[in-house]
Amino acid sequence: MRRSGHACDRSHSGHSPGDLSICAAGSVRYSSAAMAPLRITLLLSALLTLAGGARAVDFKKDVRPILKAKCYGCHSEEAKKEKAGYVFDNLERFAGDIGPKGQIVPHDPERSNFLDLVTRDKDPMPPSGKERLSPAEIKVLRQWIEEGASLDGSGGGKPGGKSSGGLPTRQPEAPPAPLQDWTNTEGKTIKARYVRMSGEAVVIKTAENKSFKVPLAKLSPATQDQAKAAAAAEAKAAAP
Ligand code: HEC
Repeated sequence: MRRSGHACDRSHSGHSPGDLSICAAGSVRYSSAAMAPLRITLLLSALLTLAGGARAVDFKKDVRPILKAKCYGCHSEEAKKEKAGYVFDNLERFAGDIGPKGQIVPHDPERSNFLDLVTRDKDPMPPSGKERLSPAEIKVLRQWIEEGASLDGSGGGKPGGKSSGGLPTRQPEAPPAPLQDWTNTEGKTIKARYVRMSGEAVVIKTAENKSFKVPLAKLSPATQDQAKAAAAAEAKAAAP
């Protein structure tokens, strides 16, 4: 009886139990060779995940330099300019602009007035005549808002994070507050709607959708009461 030294060479001929064991031994070597492309595939997909899921935007590294270059000139404590009541270099105050009714709605670029202001043609920010944000800068702001607009690098509501699993936290749309007169301590009056309280300031919005953040202390006593009443009515409406 003739036996080939390599039983597996005869893969197309009949098998015998003896051949099987030799083939099994051979197949260990063979399958480790087969694993190599698999390993490369795994490595590649890991690399692609890293590249495709571009790194999260970091407020301090990516966003703040843009605001510093394009906004601080008119909206910072550093420059002592607080146009419309907004400052972006004091993060505690800036945090008051981030929320469901704020200039920045986390995870929701479309509802974020902040992003609208820097992209629209009519009454943009920075105001006409000043250098606008580049498409790359707008992309960074948009991604930062999509990722939850966190100021401390906690990643806001990253998928897998605690806040909302990456889904927009939408609030039911409340009807806008009525237009009312708002008078400051100097006796100047504007017509605007109440938007929300932000610390010791009230945010109001004109019929043209321009918002102003006014410290309560700068409002007449009657107007301060009006702001507090609006806030109380809102709190009552929000209660279950
Ligand atoms: C040259 C000064 C200047 C610069 C630079 C500037 N702003 Fe303004 N900003 C203003 C003025 C003035 C107002 C008051 C509203 C108005 O009359 O348009 C305002 C108002 C605002 C408001 C509230 C108004 C609204 O419609 O809600 C926001 C928010 C704002 N700016 C954001 C920004 C951002 C973000 C940047 C940078 C990308 C920026 N601003 C750069 C002058 C400036």
